[in-house]
Amino acid sequence: MTDNLHVTEPITVSVTGAAGQIGYSLLFRLAQGEVFGDRPLNLKLIETEQGAEIAKGVAMELADCAFPLLNDMMITSDPNEGFAGANAAFLVGSKPRSKGEERADLLAANGKIFAPQGKAIAKEAADDVRVLVVGNPANTNAAIVAAHAEGVDPKRITSLTRLDHNRALAQLADKLGEPVKNLSHVTVWGNHSATQFPDATEVRVNGEPARGRLDDAWVEGEFIPRVAKRGAEIIEVRGRSSAASAASAALDHMRDWVHGTPEDDWVSVALPSDGSYGIPEGLQFGFPCRSVNGEWEIVQGLEISDDQRAMIDKNVKELQEEWAAVKEAGLV
Ligand code: NAD
Ligand code: LMR
Repeated sequence: MTDNLHVTEPITVSVTGAAGQIGYSLLFRLAQGEVFGDRPLNLKLIETEQGAEIAKGVAMELADCAFPLLNDMMITSDPNEGFAGANAAFLVGSKPRSKGEERADLLAANGKIFAPQGKAIAKEAADDVRVLVVGNPANTNAAIVAAHAEGVDPKRITSLTRLDHNRALAQLADKLGEPVKNLSHVTVWGNHSATQFPDATEVRVNGEPARGRLDDAWVEGEFIPRVAKRGAEIIEVRGRSSAASAASAALDHMRDWVHGTPEDDWVSVALPSDGSYGIPEGLQFGFPCRSVNGEWEIVQGLEISDDQRAMIDKNVKELQEEWAAVKEAGLV
């Protein structure tokens, strides 16, 4: 007699940029089961033709780890094949910026990657696909994916603001002299760019409001710019763009999306606005979100001061400008 109680359907996960530095930090933790629990994993590694050769080596190392959950693996340069049956997709593959560049400068090089991927996801992925765009400029690339993924619920297409969120937590924990685990209710609004708004207004320590423990000069003069420019700082110091921290944040995002967030906290997620907080509908914008029953919900009812509104509005304007550039370039 077959014991169906212990049979768990594999989950299919597609990762673009599998031969890159984020891919190298992400794939092993994924295969170990950090995101989808004890479900067996069918991994689809999507690379350029040149990258596919390197991805073969990554796949060999993944095999050598003998991960009990790694059920199947394939490497492809064809997005249709790569996204076939995908329940989750990490869209990492794209060029990182160099010293002195802004992320939006990558739009010309990277934007064109995401239109065919959006089409392939619409055509081939599973109905429950969860898409996370990591490649920069992440918000606008995700909007390109959504524009081409006809028939896919736009709420399933998100972009990474969790790295900024984690950076904000780390800076606040350090300043407050508290372990990160004691902190909650931090938000990063807007664009994954230097304009982003890391917002400590609601921060709590062990559930108690803690904004009063932070002086305004530090929040405005140090905290906000430090978090917003942390990507550039990493490039300056490390010589290459962040990788392990980006992969870790991407895993956090997908894990929380699947398994839920704590009831008494939220995380920062960029997804298409539903008009909340006056953000124009459809704009891929970083919001405070909770994951409930496997879906992201934007936290409602936060009071927004004039200063917060001004910071949020700058992000709306910048994302609208990026979108105008996408249209101008004929990418949608
Ligand atoms: P990398 O150069 O090390 O790797 C990128 C990989 O993508 C390469 O192997 C390349 O061959 C592959 N690639 C390029 N085009 C592809 C395509 N069409 N299909 C599949 N693969 C393709 O870069 P990285 O350091 O891994 O960074 C990847 C991206 O992530 C960059 O755009 C970077 O700026 C971005 N990033 C975003 C965040 C964030 O918080 N959103 C954080 C860090 C990095
Ligand atoms: C980051 O925030 O570290 C990434 O987006 C890489 C970059 O270009 O800053």
